Amino acid sequence: MSQQYDVIVIGAGPGGYIAAIRAAQLGQNVACIDEWKSASGGPAPGGTCTNVGCIPSKALLQSSEHFEHANHHFADHGIRVKDVQIDVAQMVARKDQVVKQNNDGILYLFKKNKVSFFHGRGSFLAKTDAGFQVQVSGKDTQVLTAKQVIVATGSSARAWPGVPFDEDKVLSNDGALRIGAVPKRLAVIGSGVIGLEMGSVWRRLGAEVTILEGLPTFLGAADEQIAKEAKKAFDKRGLKIELGIKVGEIKSHKKGVSIAYTNAKGETRTLDADKIIVSIGRVPNTAGLNPEAVGLQLDERGAIVVDSDCRTNVPGVWAVGDVVRGPMLAHKAEEEGVAVAERMAGQHGHVNFITIPWVIYTSPEIAWVGRTEQQLKTDGVAYKAGTFPFLANGRARALGDTTGMVKFLADAQTDEILGVHIVGPMASELIAEAVVAMEFKASAEDIARICHAHPSLSEATKEAALAVDKRTLNF
Ligand code: FAD
Ligand code: NAI
Repeated sequence: MSQQYDVIVIGAGPGGYIAAIRAAQLGQNVACIDEWKSASGGPAPGGTCTNVGCIPSKALLQSSEHFEHANHHFADHGIRVKDVQIDVAQMVARKDQVVKQNNDGILYLFKKNKVSFFHGRGSFLAKTDAGFQVQVSGKDTQVLTAKQVIVATGSSARAWPGVPFDEDKVLSNDGALRIGAVPKRLAVIGSGVIGLEMGSVWRRLGAEVTILEGLPTFLGAADEQIAKEAKKAFDKRGLKIELGIKVGEIKSHKKGVSIAYTNAKGETRTLDADKIIVSIGRVPNTAGLNPEAVGLQLDERGAIVVDSDCRTNVPGVWAVGDVVRGPMLAHKAEEEGVAVAERMAGQHGHVNFITIPWVIYTSPEIAWVGRTEQQLKTDGVAYKAGTFPFLANGRARALGDTTGMVKFLADAQTDEILGVHIVGPMASELIAEAVVAMEFKASAEDIARICHAHPSLSEATKEAALAVDKRTLNF
């Protein structure tokens, strides 16, 4: 017997669970299916983000930052601590607890919003007159039917060809978040977001971390000036990043791993390490979904093909988040989930891709929204730039962290803000003001005229806006 719903959501990551809640708020009878298992085998909704992504990585970044502060910065404040030690098991247990709180929170939200949750794998069976049939394979097998389906099955780490993840020596993001003891030498392939965040965690805890990056430029998606400033800070902190390398053979052996590579000068090298994190991007999850049963179109990467409104080629089937085109970010997945739920209810859900912020939670943090200086040049847009260093910000001095700057890019004629780029303390929080400003099409002068609390890091944002018109007050 099939159970009938208005909407079936496959996947309870940030794209899926948020879509399910929004659809339920709009009066739909919603089922959400997710297969993620907790350590005890129970449901663990929240997807990559909650279980092995955003949340646990930020928990470990916080713990490792405390450790680094205790070791290197407390003394500046006159706080003397002796014999600082890291209890990795406790740090990982705390991280697991944070994850569990989030899993439980989502289960509570499903109950509160009357979303029916099914623990198991969801796969398309067929399209019938009653709607799409989706099979749930969990403890037992059930069939659900609905006229509308949202696929939000997310993504998984891309493995190095011929070197599968064993999560002991060859680690994906999953293994990188539960290393049992600080490795002496840690190799990372890819200086993207995961490489930098995970590399930072284990470097702060004492590992000698070497990141091998294929591209000749560092953080190509970020503004060049900001990326350079960040690279300088990472070098200073001892995070070794080699650019323009070509990785050859990766051998996993009893004692660790050895990676043969050619460096930017064309010299052949071998990097020996206890463990390796492979963070070279992610692949969409469509295996097991049986998309053929309803004729769902995938692209050459295996991503579900959607239009700008997240409609697939099959009317009634939508797809959101990492399993479709666009940046693989939790907040992008959430925005798409909300917009789809609203579109299904006849509303005009909207995602503004121009104002999706990017944040890298390293130290210093890196955050941006809008276009970079190099993009504006390529696009032939006349612009004005203004920067303000945290070195000249009173709150940053009081915090003891004056690395970095805020940078504004504004249209040369209209002064409209086209991009804001930050490297420095709490960039992840500061960027929100820039997102709001850009969403409301503010000018740099709008920000420059707004009163910002003193002393606060946000004054650097105001000053960078003033710098666009060459009238900073504190620099
Ligand atoms: P997912 O979160 O991947 O969720 C998909 C869910 O669907 C999973 O639970 C999966 O088990 C389930 N599923 C898949 N197939 C099926 C099936 N057939 N049946 C049932 N269930 C199925 N983004 C940020 O914005 N900020 C960050 O700080 C950040 N940090 C990250 C750190 C790491 C280490 C990683 C790996 C990623 C990070 N991301 C971050 C990216 C973010 O996690 C993803 O963009 C986000 O999780 C995508 O959400 P989603 O709902 O599309 O997919
Ligand atoms: P990524 O796309 O950010 O970085 C991958 C890096 O690996 C790139 O610099 C790329 O040039 C390099 N690379 C690829 N192939 C290579 C090769 N053969 N040899 C050497 N280098 C190679 O991917 P990553 O770090 O795996 O993260 C996946 C996604 O997860 C990110 O794109 C991001 O969307 C999301 N994420 C977001 C976070 C955040 O928002 N703070 C944190 C972590 C992940």
